[in-house]
Amino acid sequence: MAKVKFFGVESIPLEMHKVRIVQKLNLPPIERRLEAITEAGNNTFLLRNADVFLDMLTDSGVNAMSDQQQAAMMIADDSYAGSATFTRLENKLREIFGMPFFLPAHQGRACENILSQVLVSPGSVVPMNYHFTTTKAHITLNGGIVEELVGDAGLEVVSAHPFKGNMDIAKLRQVIARHGADRIAFVRMEAGTNLIGGQPFSVANLGEIRQVCDEFGLMLVLDASLLADNLHFIKEREADCRDLSIREITRRMADLCDVIYFSARKLGCVRGGGICIRDEAFYRRMRGLVPLYEGFLTYGGMSVREMEALTVGLEETMDEDVINQGPQFIRYMVDELVRRGIPVITPAGGLGCHINAMEFVDHIPQARYPAGALASALYLVSGIRGMERGTLSEQREPDGSEVFANMELVRLALPRRVFTLSQVKYTIDRLTWLYANRRKIGGLVFTEEPEILRFFYGRLAPVSDWQTELVARFRQDFGDSL
Ligand code: F0G
Repeated sequence: MAKVKFFGVESIPLEMHKVRIVQKLNLPPIERRLEAITEAGNNTFLLRNADVFLDMLTDSGVNAMSDQQQAAMMIADDSYAGSATFTRLENKLREIFGMPFFLPAHQGRACENILSQVLVSPGSVVPMNYHFTTTKAHITLNGGIVEELVGDAGLEVVSAHPFKGNMDIAKLRQVIARHGADRIAFVRMEAGTNLIGGQPFSVANLGEIRQVCDEFGLMLVLDASLLADNLHFIKEREADCRDLSIREITRRMADLCDVIYFSARKLGCVRGGGICIRDEAFYRRMRGLVPLYEGFLTYGGMSVREMEALTVGLEETMDEDVINQGPQFIRYMVDELVRRGIPVITPAGGLGCHINAMEFVDHIPQARYPAGALASALYLVSGIRGMERGTLSEQREPDGSEVFANMELVRLALPRRVFTLSQVKYTIDRLTWLYANRRKIGGLVFTEEPEILRFFYGRLAPVSDWQTELVARFRQDFGDSL
């Protein structure tokens, strides 16, 4: 993909695949979109997909599968126990990660449940580069606390740092000294660090963390859900790895870890999850929980068809042409938005394009959820569904006070191989219009606020009639356009 140069036209990403199945989309008029977002309590999670034009909520479970993956689904072995499908998947994971043991689970958070139940107890500490919502929820549910140790560059919105997901080693040492090594349940590194904009860490950083873990006898756990993007960036940006194949880089990373878990809704482009483990005793401790929460050991809550597709998807992840598509589309989108002065996280990461709501709508205070308001406004003017990743996605303190997020982002995920470049250009166009009219966007207040993971079901209302005004302005500028 990266190797094709253009003559005489702008440099654009070029797909190394063709599309043979399509799905019709619906773009309702803006008046219907206003009704839809109101019915959804201004929460994009609660929109019905029939009202959505481009679904950029997530890349989870919605990446396009390949023909090879779909074909593999036909040979799945449906037996409850001892299925040949499981053996094929287990062998592929052993081949790629070099870890002897594998436990299947129905998705990433199910792996987090198992890991946290076995490793985390009241008073435990889990240092990590950055949390993910479900990870933190499982750790805190088991009485642990999360220490976020991403380097300072990780929290800078505009940056040229190639590895913003790196952990700050000095901070890791401080945390160990402060709490004592005995209280550290494990050290967690998240590939393609989700909540700070899909930012990668380097193999060198992982190596340094390994050294510290060895020094203090700590377990190193890799969340490989977004590994594919991270691998792309390592290959592109880390001089020591430039001449290695994706498979060799993967192995180099895996060799530094004790446990690798993943959401296969991201890694491998299917629906499932799993935990790869090096140590047998530890494997045995976790194994008991699989039949309790997931299903029998050889399917773990996954459909065997998805498992076959995962075996193929993991192999395809070792192909640069496959994993380059996402980051290259995202870079195109980010670069174009930067050219238009629209605030986004830079450098472009994986997963999607992250709009910096803190700056886009800098007139909205964090207590009125700027990223939530921007996600609602963007849906209204475009039919594009993004995801709030800011204060709404945080949990209140036990005393009820708000935890203001470090970053207020609207994530526009680009599920791999799903959208075309013209759809990306439409997104850029509507964002450009919205930016010019950003002062019309107002804040949101909760009308219904659940206690746990409130961003999933919470309902909010606009603080004024700003949405109606935005619709009127849209009609003025776009006439009868959808
Ligand atoms: N870890 C990371 C880094 C993730 O991005 C996710 C999910 C999970 C764990 C949990 O996996 O959804 O299969 O249970 N991220 C999705 C997202 C939900 O939209 O970014 P899961």
